[in-house]
Amino acid sequence: MTTHDLPAGMVTAATRANDLQYMPGFGNDFETEALPGALPQGQNSPQKCNYGLYGEQLSGTAFTAPSHQNERTWCYRIRPSVKHSGRYTKIDLPYWKSAPHVDPDVISLGQYRWDPVPHSDAGLTWLTGMRTMTTAGDVNTQVGMASHVYLVTESMQDAYFYSADSELLVVPQEGRLRFCTELGVIDLAPQEIAILPRGLVYRVEVLDGPCRGFVCENYGQKFDLPGRGPIGANCMANRRDFKTPVAAFEDREVPSTLTIKWCGQFHETRIGHSPLDVVAWHGNYAPVKYDLTTYCPVGAILFDHPDPSIFTVLTAPSGVEGTANIDFVLFRERWMVAEDTFRPPWYHKNVMSELMGNIYGQYDAKPQGFVPGGMSLHNMMLPHGPDKTAFEGASNADLKPEKLDNTMSFMFETRFPQHLTAFAATQAPLQDDYIDCWDSLEKKFDGTPGLK
Ligand SMILES: [Fe+2]
Repeated sequence: MTTHDLPAGMVTAATRANDLQYMPGFGNDFETEALPGALPQGQNSPQKCNYGLYGEQLSGTAFTAPSHQNERTWCYRIRPSVKHSGRYTKIDLPYWKSAPHVDPDVISLGQYRWDPVPHSDAGLTWLTGMRTMTTAGDVNTQVGMASHVYLVTESMQDAYFYSADSELLVVPQEGRLRFCTELGVIDLAPQEIAILPRGLVYRVEVLDGPCRGFVCENYGQKFDLPGRGPIGANCMANRRDFKTPVAAFEDREVPSTLTIKWCGQFHETRIGHSPLDVVAWHGNYAPVKYDLTTYCPVGAILFDHPDPSIFTVLTAPSGVEGTANIDFVLFRERWMVAEDTFRPPWYHKNVMSELMGNIYGQYDAKPQGFVPGGMSLHNMMLPHGPDKTAFEGASNADLKPEKLDNTMSFMFETRFPQHLTAFAATQAPLQDDYIDCWDSLEKKFDGTPGLK
């Protein structure tokens, strides 16, 4: 069942399927109620809540986190979350891995590229269709990340999920998904992203399948907007372009399953109702979506190619200043105008590890082979850069202003080395010849001066 055809008695803003409402802003202190008067005013914990609701706090940071980082949301719900819990049994989701996960039979050292992971005939949900490509850091100490590809063809039926381990950054590449969460409903399509906070319960439905995309599972500190420094108060990702859903709830008493990811393992519990029963909430810990086409890139307007960090959309800090647990970086349409400049990304060896995905179009450093739905990995201290075609083309191009059009790729860049899963190394469509793309680069140096 989808929220398109809700049974009588199920009161939810999501019934307005084509009229989902969102509130603008990143990290705002929002307040929203699906029934009038459901949200207490002037206090969090009245002796009795309106409609017989239970008040409950969802803490996204430690109580004592600094004020500018402190995140929590007060929920007013039909049942407290302890009623959406019970005895747990462990279940196996063999393709969803967590760090540390080092497969002794897999070589993670190298430059890797994959074609899009194909869909299969099997019906797959958000849980069964998640395919981990890489892991980094340690889920138990809350550092690092995992990258996944999702292949989803079926909606979760009376089934719900939350990750205690991580927030999920979702990057669709194909198909449309609906995330029915405790705090409201998000519809998500390619060219958009969503962040699902740690601990948030949700169900994922297929609006338009099959669906494929990428997920960055962030074990560490939450994603935030990067500081713009001298760029100032505008451009890059602007706060108003982030959208958080209004409150929506389900009052539905049917046998249901809640799956929890906790310290890298999956656990299931049976409950008799939908846990999406938050009628009103206020706070700053909530899911959010963002339209990538609103990202305003800033770049070189005279010469040279800046570091790719200039295209950072979101950054999840680590304990080391300026060294991200994860940066989410976007390479989208833009003008190239730099004079006397090798315009594509330069050759590079990086202490950070770079996992890229193509959402659509052609990436300028790799005109062939890096296709929509495909991924590449340039791991910690592994050299990479333009192939021969890109190098020769850019070295000999007439440097007039040029619009890079039809291009949208991204990077999950982490300070930690990324370890391939067996799925990534043996089952996903790995391009065995990727390393050969640099073979034809020739030695031009012969000891004589001059531009060659
Ligand atoms: Fe790089």
